[in-house]
Amino acid sequence: MITENSGVFHLQNETASYLLRVRPEGFLEHLHFGAPVCTGDAQALAVRSGLGWGDSVQFDEEDNAACLDVLPLEWSGAGRGDYRESPISLSRGGEPLSTEFRYAGFALHEGGAPMTSGLPQSRGGETLELWLTDETQKLRLRLFYGVFETAFTRRAVLENCGDLPVTLHKLMSFCMDLPGKFRMHSFHGGWIAETHRRVTDVGQAGVVNESVCGDSSNRVNCGFLLAEPETGETQGRVYGVNLIYSGSHYASARRSLQGLTRVMQGISPADFHWELAPGACFETPEAVLAFSDAGFGGLSAAMHAHVNRHIVPEYWQNRPRPVLYNSWEGCMFDFSERKLLHLAKQAKELGCELFVLDDGWFGARNSDRAGLGDYDVNTKKLPGGLKRLGEELNAMGLDFGLWVEPESVNPDSALYRAHPDWVVPEQHPPLLGRHQLRLDLSRPEVRDYIVEKVGALLDSAPISYVKWDMNRHSPALGAAAHRNVLGLYEVLHRIFDARPQILLESCASGGGRFDLGMLCFSPQIWASDDTDPIERLDIQDGLSYLYPQSAWGAHVSQSPHAQTLRATPLSTRGNVSFFGVLGYELNLDELSPVERTEIAAQIAFYKAHRETFQFGRFRRLSCEENAVCWQVQGEGETLVGLFHRLMPAAAGYEFLRPAGLDPQKRYHVASRPQLLRVGGFGSLLRHVAPVRMKPGGLLLSTVDKHYRMYDGALELTVSGATLHAGIPLPARFAGTGYDPALRVQGDFGSNVFLIEEETENEES
Ligand code: DGJ
Repeated sequence: MITENSGVFHLQNETASYLLRVRPEGFLEHLHFGAPVCTGDAQALAVRSGLGWGDSVQFDEEDNAACLDVLPLEWSGAGRGDYRESPISLSRGGEPLSTEFRYAGFALHEGGAPMTSGLPQSRGGETLELWLTDETQKLRLRLFYGVFETAFTRRAVLENCGDLPVTLHKLMSFCMDLPGKFRMHSFHGGWIAETHRRVTDVGQAGVVNESVCGDSSNRVNCGFLLAEPETGETQGRVYGVNLIYSGSHYASARRSLQGLTRVMQGISPADFHWELAPGACFETPEAVLAFSDAGFGGLSAAMHAHVNRHIVPEYWQNRPRPVLYNSWEGCMFDFSERKLLHLAKQAKELGCELFVLDDGWFGARNSDRAGLGDYDVNTKKLPGGLKRLGEELNAMGLDFGLWVEPESVNPDSALYRAHPDWVVPEQHPPLLGRHQLRLDLSRPEVRDYIVEKVGALLDSAPISYVKWDMNRHSPALGAAAHRNVLGLYEVLHRIFDARPQILLESCASGGGRFDLGMLCFSPQIWASDDTDPIERLDIQDGLSYLYPQSAWGAHVSQSPHAQTLRATPLSTRGNVSFFGVLGYELNLDELSPVERTEIAAQIAFYKAHRETFQFGRFRRLSCEENAVCWQVQGEGETLVGLFHRLMPAAAGYEFLRPAGLDPQKRYHVASRPQLLRVGGFGSLLRHVAPVRMKPGGLLLSTVDKHYRMYDGALELTVSGATLHAGIPLPARFAGTGYDPALRVQGDFGSNVFLIEEETENEES
């Protein structure tokens, strides 16, 4: 709801209030963003700046306190007495411009205000539009505030109303001054190590969260949190900030001496020069802001709800995602139609629903050195083309998914030979990344080529899923990079708006472009090329702060893992991948019979609880230091995954302490049955087996393929109140014997517990 009363604007949603007012001289004052408050309390919420500050530059000579530098503001200009970081930077003829924006009016838009530059935005909502003008510089600034159930959005549009061009160097999507002391929780890493959470105190020196890769990048995610120092999962005040943008981005938070934290976010100003001709406008991406006074868990719930309801394409909103098999890790570039169908048959038997043909199916693409850009099927590998492969898969009962990487080109390709000028222009001799160059999506003919080529591919075969990859950062700087991002969005609109039922999974060397901009087109994103479940604990945990679990692909791959050489139990690989959109990406020919049984059981379990895993309320539960515990909660059922890293000797008692249950109700709690590999015990087996088996011997390796022991079985009925208090889990193996009720896990062990509400007539 949005209300206006004598220049006070109150934005209210289910979780928060956002209050601002127009000061008498026309500046926009930030009053409050936080727990719900009363509209009439604007005056009570305003800071009392006393009699002013000794070094202040005043906008009213008679009033010592009339100083922009110490006021909490909704926007600020440059060179007018506010010496904090400005959200705007302009020049004309090489000279920096001072700016001072004063209020000129407002408008309300039911159902949202559509953006005009082609940038994606949250669907729906109500919007407040505020007009501000700088009469001296002949500029008009429009600030847009969107109100949604659990989030607010902000963006800005600058218009040059003068007769001379202006150069725009920086225009943030929003700026505001929050009272309080905060820590920034941001999400960093790089290839195969994305979204690790880092915590930094926000002081006067400030904290910057920026990507200059041309893409949102795997180094630093656009999204971050500002939390009071004592914030935990269930208590404390925390703000979530994210940007609906896939290019270079920038955010900063700095605390002033007066205790206001100025926070802003938008397109990265690095090398940014955008010529704003007379009459022209520049539109920023939309920022998404949420607040919770119920800790990180409350904030995540608010952000997840916003993404699920207002960001992912409508067709895929709450629509269950298929369990897929992807050919990449099992085949790489080496496959034939026969081999693919052989794998597909096994994938189907295991329970997969979608078969994804990854890289290597077109042109001369037998390695990553050639062929990228030439999307004509390689008939040596696929003599019947994509159509026959798709039909064969469909006949088996599998959907067909296809990999493409349309934004790049190998120099060794027909496309590059025909159009060497289609790549992003560089002043120096071009540099390759993964043997490829980026196509210049700011050029209409390049966009048309991609739209026509990919569109024709999708219509040529029964394709229901696309993996859209992008494997090198752009050499484009500043405004050129932004034009490429706009070009990408246009291409995605043109291809997929007409084909809403195609499930798009975007990817950029894994999670190199995991952002809300891509999620507006692609309901799920490949989180990381790293499928080692222990690495995924950090990656998926980091993502979970701002993105719902339906947004990331999580695959079971081989062990030892291709990147870490870490050997992990199949149970843990499955258990971690359950908390995401499950897939399998390994050579199925190499599975032992017992592994097949286990994978089939994993897929059946996931399907039975898919809606809860993909769309249930996600919580990070507290657990011992060396472990991670995630919970998802849906209709009548709750699932908890408890994951260990290294196993300590003499491990102590551990408790299952789920959250959000009804204390009055009774629940049936059961561990998901999972198996232990006999072979993993080596010579220790002599302690429990009736026959002697030599470690490494034929008998043991045969038994290992066909026989497994049960691990950590737990089953009981208990009240919600008792579960909230915490129930002890089965003890862990300590070298003193084996029992199916023991959790015999060693390093990297895990369990998933299913907690189901008992119905009235069940015994209590
Ligand atoms: C990078 C992706 O992240 C992988 O999953 C795979 O699709 C390869 N590209 C294919 O080249």
